[in-house]
Formats: sequence, C-alpha cells, structure tokens
Amino acid sequence: IRSGAGGAESCSGLDAELSYVRNDVVNHYALSFNLLIPSETNNLHFSWHAKSKVEYKLGFQVDNPMAMAMPQANISLQGEVPRTLSVFRVELSCTGRLDSEVTILMQLNLTINSSKNITVLNFKRRKMCYKKLEPEVKSPTSDKNSSKAIFDPVNAAPTTSTRVFYISVGVCCAVIFLVAIILAVLHLHSMKRIELDDRYGIYIGLFGSAGSSGYPTLRIEKNDLKSVTLMEAKAKVKDIAISRERITLKDVLQEGTFGRIFHGILIEEKDPSKEKQVFVKTVKDQASEVQVTMMLTESCKLRGLHHRNLLPITHVCIEEGEKPMVLLPYMNWGNLKLFLRQCKLVEANNPQAISQQDLVHMAIQIACGMSYLARREVIHKDLAARNCVIDDALQVKITDNALSRDLFPMDYHCLGDNENRPVRWMALESLVNNEFSSASDVWAFGVTLWELMTLGQTPYVDIDPFEMAAYLKDGYRIAQPINCPDELFAVMACCWALDPEERPKFQQLVQCLTEFHAALGAYV
Ligand SMILES: *[C@@H]1O[C@H](CO)[C@@H](O)[C@H](O)[C@H]1NC(C)=O
Ligand SMILES: *[C@@H]1O[C@H](CO)[C@@H](O)[C@H](O)[C@H]1NC(C)=O
Ligand SMILES: *[C@@H]1O[C@H](CO)[C@@H](O)[C@H](O)[C@H]1NC(C)=O
Ligand SMILES: *[C@@H]1O[C@H](CO)[C@@H](O)[C@H](O)[C@H]1NC(C)=O
Repeated sequence: IRSGAGGAESCSGLDAELSYVRNDVVNHYALSFNLLIPSETNNLHFSWHAKSKVEYKLGFQVDNPMAMAMPQANISLQGEVPRTLSVFRVELSCTGRLDSEVTILMQLNLTINSSKNITVLNFKRRKMCYKKLEPEVKSPTSDKNSSKAIFDPVNAAPTTSTRVFYISVGVCCAVIFLVAIILAVLHLHSMKRIELDDRYGIYIGLFGSAGSSGYPTLRIEKNDLKSVTLMEAKAKVKDIAISRERITLKDVLQEGTFGRIFHGILIEEKDPSKEKQVFVKTVKDQASEVQVTMMLTESCKLRGLHHRNLLPITHVCIEEGEKPMVLLPYMNWGNLKLFLRQCKLVEANNPQAISQQDLVHMAIQIACGMSYLARREVIHKDLAARNCVIDDALQVKITDNALSRDLFPMDYHCLGDNENRPVRWMALESLVNNEFSSASDVWAFGVTLWELMTLGQTPYVDIDPFEMAAYLKDGYRIAQPINCPDELFAVMACCWALDPEERPKFQQLVQCLTEFHAALGAYV
C-alpha cells in the first residue's frame, strides 16, 4: 500500500476527531461537512503525517474579506508532509468591522511521489464574526489599557468613574421623568376632548350593530404568563427541527440588543441543489434562557395556519451548543414598519412613491389574514406594522411577534408590572383588565391602519405610556392623519370603540375597505 497523508482535526473543547485521509483513502463524507466554529474559537489545529513522500500546497479563501482577514497557517504554503505526526495551526481572525457569517475554505493539494495526480482536499468551515471587540483570548491583567477594560462586557467591573457616571445618569433621568410628568399633566388639561360618539356615531351605523349580526360572542382570553422552560419550548418544536447544515446565513436584516434577523438560505432535504430563501430569527451569545424560551414560544403563535396573508414559522434549528434559530419564508422587502419608514423618506422627493390605493390594499390584506385568525379563534395580541412583512408585489403577510420587543423597543412599555407590552396598540380592556379577544385585535388593526396612512409614525407619540389608559377612558384617540380621507379615518375610529361589541368584525372591515379601494380606483 502506498502511503498517504493522514489528516485529523481536533477541535478545542471537543473530544471528537475527524479523519480526512486514512491509508490513502479520502473520507469524502467528512470533507463534505461545513463545520461551524464557535465564535470564541480563533485557532484550528490539524495533525498529519505521511509514510512516504507527499508534497502539499495549501491555500485559503474567505467569502467575506471585510469580516475576516485571510487565515494564517504556521506552516509554509508549499512543502512536504512531515513523516512524523505533527500539528499545524490555522488562525482565523475576524476584522471586527461587520457582523457576518464567514465561510472559510482551506484547500490542501497533495501529490504523491511527484506524480501528475493531484488530490484536492477542501475543508469548509463557518464562523460568525461580530462587529466591535472580537473577544481575544487575553487575560485582563496583561491588558494595561484601562479604557479597553471598561468596555469589555465580560470584565466590566464598575470603576469609580463609571459609578459616578451611572449616578449622574440616574439623577438626570429622575429630573427628566418629573418634567415629563408635569408636561403630560399640563398637556392633558389643555387638550380638547374629542367627542367620539358625536362625530363618528354615524359610521358605527356603517357596520351595523355587532351584537345582532349573527357573529358568535367574543372569546375572551386572559394573558396568562405560564412560565415555560427552555426544555419544554424546545420539545414543542422538535417535529419541525432541522439540521444546522441546511442553513446558510447571509446578511443581518435587523438587530436588537440580543436578537437578530438574518436573510438565510435553506437547502432542501431531498435535493441539496435546491435552495429556498428564509428569514432566520436567532439570538446572540449573551441572550438569556428566558429570552431564548420567549423567542421559541412566541414564534409558534401562527404555527400550522395556512393563509396567503399569514407568515407562520416553518422550521427551527435547536442543535446542542448552537443558539436556536427560527425559520420563516422570505419576503424580499422585509419588515412592513421599516418599509413604510423608508417610503416616508423617499416621499420627500417623490410624493407618488406609494399611493393611497396601495396602502389601502395592504390594509385589506392584513384584514383578510386577521379575519382568518378570528374564524380560527386565534387571538394575535400584538398586531402592528412591525409584525407584518411585505414583498415586491406589495403582498403583505402577518407574522408572530417573536423578537419584536427587542427589535422595536420604543413600541413596548413596562407599566410597572414587569411585562413589556405594546401599550399604544392595546385596547382599553386589554390594558386595564388584561382581556384579549378578536375585538382587541380589531383595535390594534385600527392603529395599524393609522400606521399605514402615516407611513410608519408612532401612535400617541406625545402621550406618556402610563397615561394611556386614562387618556383612552376620557375618549381621546389618535388624530386623523393629514391626507387621510374622512371615510378611512372613520373606519379606524370604529375600531377604537370602547365597547368591544361595538367594534366592527374583520370580515366587515375587509368588505368596507374593499369598497373604499374600488372607489379610490374609480377616481384615479
Ligand atoms: C489545487 O489544485 C487545483 C486544481 O488543480 C487548483 O485550482 C488550486 O489552485 C490548487 N490549490 C492550491 C492551494 O494550490
Ligand atoms: C504550529 O502551532 C502548533 C500549535 O500551536 C504547534 O504545536 C506546532 O509546533 C507549530 N508548528 C510550527 C511549524 O511552528
Ligand atoms: C492517477 O489518476 C489516474 C486516473 O484518475 C489513475 O488511473 C492512476 O492510477 C493515478 N495514479 C496514481 C499514481 O495515483
Ligand atoms: C489604549 O488604547 C488606545 C485606543 O485603542 C490607544 O490609543 C492607546 O495608545 C492605548 N494605550 C495603551 C497604554 O496601550
């Protein structure tokens, strides 16, 4: 038997070894793995030796040179494979300039006894590179640069200067908070009360009296905060779990403090040449178990439902040692709220960027999806533009609210009960009694319609979240947006009737908006 090169890799922290060539036989199965390297691992070790003369050439490729510098090996790029078992090291260093998953290719060309035959071995690795300080393995004592130590998230011990900083920030916040309360109180007293019933009573007639319309009475659900453990959450999605190997991460689309949404590629199980584009919701390394559990649980809100205006979860990846990932079908224009805000920016130069008719068409699609949910007695509880997505055909789909609290922190508020809620989108009975129903979803739909018409503005932006309940009780609502036709504002206002039974049903909203859409078409 002619000798060959034996190559094995042992990964730090892993006991397993993978052999790539043994007794002249190439292990193609092992080579086909695209192994994920933990983001804190910067060195790979390969051990090898040959029984006779084997020449090698070594080369590297990275798919994103902005995120990762060219890997460096501590052997020369060309030479002879050693005859005794030796180790070489490959150093992978992220540049720290952007967040990205990098695919690394290490190519080892072997020629035996100077023959013309080349055996090409391709080793593929993936690694996540993150912006800012890439955690270097360095002991804090050896690092004399104190400014660095303060911002090191692991070793950050409050020094005197940071403590002073926090105290001053605390004092500032208290002062700002007091001023805010005083302003809010003054504001409330100076504001004219909108007599909803007087002005919009006629429109409520538009939808007929809900009580007599033959719809079943509302199913009311309390927001139960049953604590689910991570194990239970994972067990619930086991049946849609897939292997990490099938997912490739591309760009980061949205990023919060612990959550991230990627544009990803999913390889089909049956035919690996087929690919599907996906959204991948995942968490960063510092996410807590509670946050991970919440992402998994909330991702399942629309699971198993099929409607063209709903975007439910399709797969998860919950492999040991990896952060869980949640996969949803891709919609190429992404998040609806971010899309609307973009339109607003473009609108300054080009007023016809998006027409009112387009916006009404989006509202109809949302109402259709919600109508389906209401028929299935599914209560969404967090309908808003931020929880919808859109594609280039202006097709809109409603999705779950997993990670929204992290990605849109300004839209959620804690009212002293430790629960972060979308206060400005909530019906009064949900705010006060924690009661949710399809009618409270209708309320949120009214706010979403307002978001569409204002191209993504924040509702009740001047109102303190703590004052929202009192404000709504007094009969105040969001003002009619400029350029919003009276008929359309009337539809919103109906959604905000204090009595849940008086609000229109989604089916009625679809009908009414469709008629309005047709009328707009007739005038254009
Ligand atoms: C290995 O061989 C292939 C095919 O001959 C060639 O394209 C490639 O550049 C070689 N790689 C290295 C690192 O020399
Ligand atoms: C390369 O690095 C490894 C591990 O750090 C070491 O064991 C090996 O001796 C080094 N090889 C050379 C040629 O310097
Ligand atoms: C070189 O490759 C040819 C065809 O692929 C094969 O028949 C031959 O045995 C190889 N020679 C050596 C020395 O491996
Ligand atoms: C500390 O870091 C800053 C910025 O990276 C650098 O300019 C400075 O020279 C460093 N000081 C020491 C003592 O290393």
